[in-house]
Amino acid sequence: MPTLTIDGREITVEPGTTVIRAAEMLGIHIPRYCWHPGLSIAGNCRICQVEVVKPKLRFPCTVSCNLVASDGMEILTDSEAARKARADVMEFLLLNHPLDCPICDQAGECLLQEYSYAVGRDKSRFDEEKVHKSKRVRFSEEIVYDGERCILCTRCVRFMKEVAGEEQLAVVERGDHAEIAVAYGRELTSPYSMNIVDLCPVGALTSADFRFKSRVWFLTNVPSTCTSCARGCSITVGARWEKIQRLTPRENPDVNRWWMCDHGRLNWKYVHAPDRLGKALVKDAGRLAPADTDEAVRRAHQLVNRFVTKRGADGLFGLVSARLTNEEIFLAREYLAGVAGVKNLDVRPRTGEGDDFLITADKNPNSLGASLIGIAPEEGAVGLEGFAEAVKAGRIRGAVFFGEDVDHDPEALAALDSLEFLVVMDYHLTETARKADVVLPGVTWAEKEGTITNVDGWVSRLNRAIRPPGEARPDLSLLGGLLAAARPEEEGLDRPEAVFEALGKAVPAFAGIRYADLYSRSGRVAVKAAAAAD
Ligand code: SF4
Ligand code: SF4
Ligand code: FES
Repeated sequence: MPTLTIDGREITVEPGTTVIRAAEMLGIHIPRYCWHPGLSIAGNCRICQVEVVKPKLRFPCTVSCNLVASDGMEILTDSEAARKARADVMEFLLLNHPLDCPICDQAGECLLQEYSYAVGRDKSRFDEEKVHKSKRVRFSEEIVYDGERCILCTRCVRFMKEVAGEEQLAVVERGDHAEIAVAYGRELTSPYSMNIVDLCPVGALTSADFRFKSRVWFLTNVPSTCTSCARGCSITVGARWEKIQRLTPRENPDVNRWWMCDHGRLNWKYVHAPDRLGKALVKDAGRLAPADTDEAVRRAHQLVNRFVTKRGADGLFGLVSARLTNEEIFLAREYLAGVAGVKNLDVRPRTGEGDDFLITADKNPNSLGASLIGIAPEEGAVGLEGFAEAVKAGRIRGAVFFGEDVDHDPEALAALDSLEFLVVMDYHLTETARKADVVLPGVTWAEKEGTITNVDGWVSRLNRAIRPPGEARPDLSLLGGLLAAARPEEEGLDRPEAVFEALGKAVPAFAGIRYADLYSRSGRVAVKAAAAAD
């Protein structure tokens, strides 16, 4: 294995390691535009210049992203020669750049700005007319291209070919007229296309959805997890004014590497939908009326308790959403199976198209968590499929739906009218909730904390990015309230870390995972659930 020195520090690396990677291992950042750890090496932007002291080269500097480390090599990343080489490259890259930073959406996270400040010259010697190129080109509904800002690093072209597996972008024209374009006869339709917006080191590719919404430095960035399918990609929620402004992928080598799909990225508008529940509702004289949340929780427990005391738990059906967190599902099980003795327990499956990259056919984010925790009908009990029939036959007479509805199934929806009581916890007023006796106002993934277990058993954290509307409360607090109403002698369970600890003791798959270890602003944030890994 070759041993080299970088800025006087020795490091031994695997054969084939490039100098830019070796420097990273030492915590030395070398500027880069075209190089990205998830893509092939192009070596075209030339900004990653370093001085090679040993072996002697014809010129003292060269690019470090395609320079393979060799034994005895001596590299200087911050010598006068290296700095001058980078300043020359910056001057060249900025020759035709429009310098429209004040109106550019990338400002604040633009590598051209950052390196210009860090390694560039303080003035331009170029007094010719700049070359003008395409502006505001719609590559697709979601992506806008500005040819004058593009530095032709080809990250976008390589991503489409190497990661998305669809060659939909190309470099067209030549010399200083070269631009990026949708390849002739193609459309930019990849379900992963918006990753090129994150990849673009400058403001040449912008998201039509986020463009001009907010300066990036005003965003509060919260690490979280996408809940739009069972992959559970790590994401960053950018929020401002208590509203989500954008979702971007967060590096996680075990789940999604640097990427996410476009659907997951854009599937957050419902969080701010007008039908969000900001108050509990309790049926009064046949109509749902706003109520105090604690009062609604007590009323919900009263209905369950009375029913079970009078008729037993066999006539009760519990539907628990696989979109809830592990902690919520655990408390839902504790309440329904543990307190009320319900055997008719099920989740509502959600399926769609999947692929062999990230997108899973399972559209519930926590199906594995729900199944590990044990949400499934017992032998001979009623599941969601047989629910409507069982209500018709008088076998099921009461129901509790946690975070779930049956709006998709007209028969099940109609069957709700024949129940003696229905309790629903949800974050918006579904058709199902309209038929309930008590509606508890829960929240969405963006407004709560907890964990979900992805399709491969990685447990990742959700973190609260925005405040919920009105008096809506995290589902865990509502479920903890129900449990406290049933077992007033026990200490209330409604803090995610305490519930996660209890979950680890009760369900072996979660044993040994520490809640605090799952939160990290960088690097690895997921821990494999032991049973799922087998
Ligand atoms: Fe690079 Fe952005 Fe130009 Fe693509 S559009 S080549 S990512 S600068
Ligand atoms: Fe979200 Fe699934 Fe897309 Fe990942 S693949 S971003 S989890 S919808
Ligand atoms: Fe090395 Fe572009 S980062 S040449």
